[in-house]
Amino acid sequence: MMLFDILKRNDSLRSIVKKGKIYREYLHDARQMSRYYLGASESRGKKEYRIMLLVHSLEKGMCMPNPRPFGYKKVVHLVHILSDYNELNKKDFEYKLGIAILKAWCSFCETHGWTEQKEYRIASEYAQKNGIDDIAAGSRIMSAPHITELSSFDDVVFSRHSVRDFADIPLKEDDIQYALKCFLEAPTACNRQMCKVYYITNPNMKNTLDNTIMGVAGFNKKTVNYFVITYDTASLDYYGERNQGHLNTGLVAMNFVNGLHARGIGSCFMQWSNKYSEDLQIRKLLKLPESERIGIVIGAGYYLNESTIPCSFRKSIEDIYRVI
Ligand SMILES: Cc1cc2nc3c(=O)[nH]c(=O)nc-3n(C[C@H](O)[C@H](O)[C@H](O)COP(=O)(O)O)c2cc1C
Repeated sequence: MMLFDILKRNDSLRSIVKKGKIYREYLHDARQMSRYYLGASESRGKKEYRIMLLVHSLEKGMCMPNPRPFGYKKVVHLVHILSDYNELNKKDFEYKLGIAILKAWCSFCETHGWTEQKEYRIASEYAQKNGIDDIAAGSRIMSAPHITELSSFDDVVFSRHSVRDFADIPLKEDDIQYALKCFLEAPTACNRQMCKVYYITNPNMKNTLDNTIMGVAGFNKKTVNYFVITYDTASLDYYGERNQGHLNTGLVAMNFVNGLHARGIGSCFMQWSNKYSEDLQIRKLLKLPESERIGIVIGAGYYLNESTIPCSFRKSIEDIYRVI
């Protein structure tokens, strides 16, 4: 009898083989990530994602309500990376963005009178030598959108940006329901609809999340509402679907966030990158079924009249599109 026939007839053997394949594929993922994660790629000279992280962090610092001197190590790190660029690569998006943020940071320091430090001089001298003006970096003011102006696809998609401070107004059930309808309308693999939303209203749970979510720095914890989006591992059929939970979470979460935005509710994704032990602790606290995992948390609340947000300048289509 062929191995295939034996497997076909024997459920428990088939299950062992399937589990073995799941472990094998995750090992490949682990190898890929450990070889090419940001730090490892950086040590091979691929620095663009480090630049993007430094830029984002400096931009967020400029959005703080009561900013103190900040970013000294980061600007020096950035100058160090940018100095290694050769003339040809100075047209790259990341290089130009790096220069733009140095300029923005310097003028932020000038506005606040923080120009005494040597790091300011290093950043300022480097930025002056490399004039680039077609990219916006730093912070900007976003006015609360009027819901009546959010009627077309363009209006919604091109006016949404992440906000981290919110009006102190309870969310209306009708608005949440609308965003949930958008969530449900997102496609999922084979229409398995394996994602759920948990709106955290229990103060104890909210408080624990305030102290557990890694990317919550810079949020107004008093006014933020948390929506935890989960996926059910029980929906994943075989090793090839091991990343479907995250992928499907991304799709439903984006529709949800756009639905909130269309109702005047600002939001920000908060990545769930905690250690397994913390993840387990939160899943227990929220009383999630064992097969359910957290994909992402969304912080949300009605927009303030004005929000200070990072510029988060986007690449051009030429940077991200190839016909092959
Ligand atoms: C998967 C994902 C995870 C994110 N995690 C965080 C986070 O932990 N903390 C945070 O402040 N922002 C987080 N963000 C928000 C991004 O920083 C933001 O979307 C990006 O800078 C683009 O800006 P925009 O949303 O204003 O267009 C996350 C966004 C995504 C898509």
